[in-house]
Amino acid sequence: GMGSDMYRQQILDHYKNPRNYGEIEEPTYTHVGENPMCGDEIRIDVKLADDEETIEHVAFQGDGCAISQASASMLSSKLPGESVDDLMEMDRDDIVDMLGVDISPMRIKCAVLAEKVAQDGYEIYQGEKDLDRTSTED
Ligand code: FES
Ligand code: FES
Repeated sequence: GMGSDMYRQQILDHYKNPRNYGEIEEPTYTHVGENPMCGDEIRIDVKLADDEETIEHVAFQGDGCAISQASASMLSSKLPGESVDDLMEMDRDDIVDMLGVDISPMRIKCAVLAEKVAQDGYEIYQGEKDLDRTSTED
């Protein structure tokens, strides 16, 4: 229908003109992850505000199909201003809603790649902060 045509156009537009493609100077964290189905890799840089909660800026680089690249582009546009808790609570349904089209089970890993990389990176960053705390307390 008309609705999904519009979303398809939007996906193509984000694919052809990716937003926030590149890197952030001095990101709070950066992480690379791959889609195990195809081996395509995406790197996500995230800059948090000084409160360590508000997402200020997200950038991405990497390869992949239109769905993965559009998803990364849309996510990087949507996240600034949101909290990192919002990011960590996102699931595949939120990503499918964001994309606005049906995603086949074969393509779901493409759709959620950027989200996963952003979430995994934050977990690793948090783990490193905890380690720092432990080692300075020792
Ligand atoms: Fe090294 Fe993510 S790639 S922490
Ligand atoms: Fe590799 Fe979609 S086919 S990310």
